[in-house]
Amino acid sequence: MSQSETEKSPEAVGFTMDDLLSALKSVAEPTRLRVLALLAEGELTVTELTQILRQSQPRVSRHLKLLCEAGVLNRYREGTWVFYRLSPGDGIGLLARGLLNYLPGDDHVLAADQERLSQVRQSRTAAAAEYFGRVAADWDRLRSLHVADTEVEARLLDILGARRYGDVLDVGTGTGRILELLAARADHATGIDLSREMLAVARSNIERLGLDNCQVRLGDMYDMPMPDSSADLVIFHQVLHYADDPLAAILETGRVLRPGGRVMVIDFAPHEFEELREAHAHRRLGFHDAEVATWFRAAALEPGRVERLTGLSTELTVTIWSAEKTPVIKEHAA
Ligand SMILES: C[S@@+](CC[C@H](N)C(=O)[O-])C[C@H]1O[C@@H](n2cnc3c(N)ncnc32)[C@H](O)[C@@H]1O
Repeated sequence: MSQSETEKSPEAVGFTMDDLLSALKSVAEPTRLRVLALLAEGELTVTELTQILRQSQPRVSRHLKLLCEAGVLNRYREGTWVFYRLSPGDGIGLLARGLLNYLPGDDHVLAADQERLSQVRQSRTAAAAEYFGRVAADWDRLRSLHVADTEVEARLLDILGARRYGDVLDVGTGTGRILELLAARADHATGIDLSREMLAVARSNIERLGLDNCQVRLGDMYDMPMPDSSADLVIFHQVLHYADDPLAAILETGRVLRPGGRVMVIDFAPHEFEELREAHAHRRLGFHDAEVATWFRAAALEPGRVERLTGLSTELTVTIWSAEKTPVIKEHAA
C-alpha cells in the first residue's frame, strides 16, 4: 500500500472520526454483518431480507435503520416497496465493502443465508417466467397497453440514425419486435430471452416475416450466451424493470459490447403505478437518470444522450438512455 493510501486526510476519505465509529459500531453485530453480506449480492427489499434472515420484520427493520443511519446502507422507497443496498461511492460504503473481504468463507450461517437468497431469487424469476409464459401469445397486444409503441420505436430509429450496425443483440427480446424493427439496419441480429414461450412466438414471427439475418436463443441477461466484444449494439427494451440486479445486466453488456459499440436502455422514468408489479410482474417502478448513468460508468460505458417521451397515449414517461463503450486507442511507438 502506498503512503498516500495509508495517510488519507479526512477530506480524502470523505468521513469524520464520528462517522467511522458509528459505521464500525453499526456493523459489529451478527445480523447486521449478515445483511451486509446479502446486500453485497444486490439490492433487496425488507420483505426479502426478512425471509432470508428468518427474523421478524420489526427486528430486521431496526437493524436496517441503524445501518442506514450510519451511512452503511442506502434506503429508497418505490411505491409500497422499500429497497436496501450498500452505499455506493468511496465513503462509508467503501469501508463496508472492504469489510466483506474479511467474512469467513466457511461460516455456515452466511452460507445458509446465501442459499436462501438464491431460493428467493429463483422464486422471483419463476414468478416472472410464469407471467411471460402465460402472456406470450398475447404479448404484442399487451405491450402496447402500457407503452405507445409507435412513438417509442420511431424515436429509437431516429436516435440510431441511418448507419448500419454489424451485430445487434436484443436482450429480453420477448416476441422479437425489436429484431423486426432493426433487422434492416443490422448485418445480424440476435434476441435472447429466458422465456421459452416468448421465444416460440419470436421464432414464428421471424419466420413469418422472412428475417433471415435474425435469430433468437434462450439466454439470461446476467450471463449472456455471447462471447466478449461481439456486439455493436445492445438493446434493452422494457426489460430492465424486471431485473433483480440491473447493474449486473449492464456490467454483462459492457463485456459483450465491442469497443465503440452502443447500448440503448428503453424503460420507464420513475412512476407510481404499483399495479404494474401485481399485474405485470414488474420489480422496479422506473429508473432515475443518475442511477442508470452510474451503472453505465461502472461498466466502463460513457453515458450519452437521454431522451424522454412524454405525452404518450399512456400516463407513463418512457426514457431512452444510451451509452458507448469507449474505443481502445492503440498507441504506436514513434
Ligand atoms: C416486457 S417483455 C419485453 C419484450 C420485448 N423487449 C418487447 O419490447 O416487446 C420483457 C422480456 O424480458 C424477458 N426477461 C426477463 N428476465 C430476463 C432475464 N433475466 N434474461 C433474459 N430475458 C429476461 C422476459 O421473458 C420478457 O420476454
